[in-house]
Order: sequence, then C-alpha cells, then structure tokens
Amino acid sequence: MESPFKADIVKGKVALITGGGSGIGFEISTQFGKHGASVAIMGRRKQVLESAVSALQSLGIIAVGFEGDVRKQEDARRVVESTFKHFGRIDILVNAAAGNFLVSAEDLSPNGFRTVMDIDSVGTFTMCHEALKYLKKGGPGRNSSGGGVILNISATLHYTAAWYQIHVSAAKAAVDSITRNLALEWGTDYDIRVNGIAPGPIGDTPGLSKLAPEEINSKARDYMPLYKLGDKWDIAMAALYLFSAAGKYVNGTTLIIDGGHWLSRPRH
Ligand code: HXC
Repeated sequence: MESPFKADIVKGKVALITGGGSGIGFEISTQFGKHGASVAIMGRRKQVLESAVSALQSLGIIAVGFEGDVRKQEDARRVVESTFKHFGRIDILVNAAAGNFLVSAEDLSPNGFRTVMDIDSVGTFTMCHEALKYLKKGGPGRNSSGGGVILNISATLHYTAAWYQIHVSAAKAAVDSITRNLALEWGTDYDIRVNGIAPGPIGDTPGLSKLAPEEINSKARDYMPLYKLGDKWDIAMAALYLFSAAGKYVNGTTLIIDGGHWLSRPRH
C-alpha cells in the first residue's frame, strides 16, 4: 500500500526495533526504512534476523541485525551499544518483542506467567533503561538536538478481560504504565517522548495466527465497526506518525489502532 507520508519524514534518523525481524515489528522496520531511517533490529532467532535484514536491504534500506533476548540485561546493553556504535546515534526505540500463548489461568504455571511478564514488561523497561543515555537531550550523538522517542507496542485486551490471556493482559497493562510514567519522568527531564500503540486484530501476524483461529477472521464482520482485520501497515503508519515531527506534542499516550474493535459488541 502506498504511504500517505513524504518519503523523507524520518530521514537521517536511527531506529532500534526489538522483535523487528517478524510480524508488526518487521513492518515498522520496513516503513521507517522506506521513509528515510536506518534500522537496527533485535531478535532471538538468528535466521529470522538474517532474512529480515536481507529483505530490508533489498528495498534499499540501511539495516543491521543484532541477536539478543530482551529478558537479559547484558543483551539489551550490548544491542543498544552496538546500534550506537554502528550508526552514531539512536533516535527511537521501538519495543515490539512479545511472548504469547493461549492458556487458561488454571493451567498456566507461575513460571509461564512470569515468562511473558519478563519479555513484555520487564523487557520493555530494560530496553528503555539501557537506551536512555542515547535518547536523552544532549546524549551521545545528539549534541544539542532534542531528545529521542520511545514507542511501546501494547494491546487492547487488558481494557476489559480476555479469555486465556491473563499473563499477556497483566504484561500489557504494565507496559501501558511504563509508557505513562516514562513519558512523565523522561519527557520532563530529558525531552524524550514515550508513547504506545495498541493494535487490535491484525492479519498475517504471529499474534493473530496463534491467538485467533480462523473463526475470528470469519466472524470479524459481526463484531467490528470497520468490518475487517487490520493490516500491519496500519500499525506502521501510526508508528511513523508518532516517530515523526507530526507527533512532537504527543507524549504518554497509547494510540489504539483497532478499527473500533475493543469497544464493540455483537449486533443483535
Ligand atoms: C502453557 C506455556 C506455553 C503454552 C510456554 N509455557 N508455552 N504454558 N501453554 N503454550 C510456559 C512453560 O511451560 C514454562 O513454564 C514457561 O512458560 C516458559 O516456557 P519456555 O518454553 O521455557 O519459554 P521460552 O522458550 O523462553 O519461550 C517463551 C515463549 C516464547 C513466550 C513461549 O517463545 C513465545 O511465545 N514466542 C512467540 C512469540 C510470539 O508469538 N510473539 C507474538 C506475540 S503477539 P514452566 O512452569 O513449565 O517452567 C502478542 C499480541 C498480544 O503479543 C495481544 C493479542 C490480542
């Protein structure tokens, strides 16, 4: 789909995207690249990373991949430092890495709960914490330019309650809190804007294929105001807006991109 934005809106900027090798993270990487940014992607799976980097490069995007697990602070630190060494600055950190599986609360072990909290919530905080010195106004590579941007990929399922998703609901609720608190502290102290995006059901993603079997696809019409699943592109366009100067006064918000799904009820 053609972008409604000018091709240079994030020109010269550098993005670090966790989970950038697949799904929504990869589409964000692609669109940031197509609009002028250089892109570093972080992920656990070497092969996924390598093919993602090749795909980005084949589009003419300057891209590099760094293996790492957001649950490990030493990985977070190494990847953030490597990104800075490679590109000389970091303008945006996108936390798109997430873990997920469907399981009833009764059958979920505390360690399973902790695993998703570790990836989504603690991982997001760890990455933000390690990236802070490069994102803050006056930080390395920034000179006197303003602060950078953080974007946390969230969800809508914790606005109400979601079957078999207690771990993810809790984790994403924490992510939204992290977004607001960092927006307050780091927006005030360091001129860093911290926002989130809450995608609804987005087609062709690991999340959807794992969580929402066929029936959601076929029943989407009955439940959704816009009568369709979203595209990864929709999320990436929102990310571009929040990254670009168009979003310069947006701080501490989590933008819902779901076609109105979370607030809808079946027609009767
Ligand atoms: C029950 C499970 C489980 C499952 C793991 N566990 N999978 N419990 N059902 N299907 C439990 C294990 O039993 C174990 O607890 C603990 O979790 C850790 O499991 P490991 O396999 O050791 O963990 P690890 O190898 O680190 O893998 C973690 C993972 C991850 C979360 C399973 O590999 C993963 O999900 N990757 C997929 C990433 C993904 O799909 N991303 C898209 C997210 S979409 P015990 O007690 O046995 O030790 C998204 C959208 C959300 O986030 C919103 C949607 C609307």
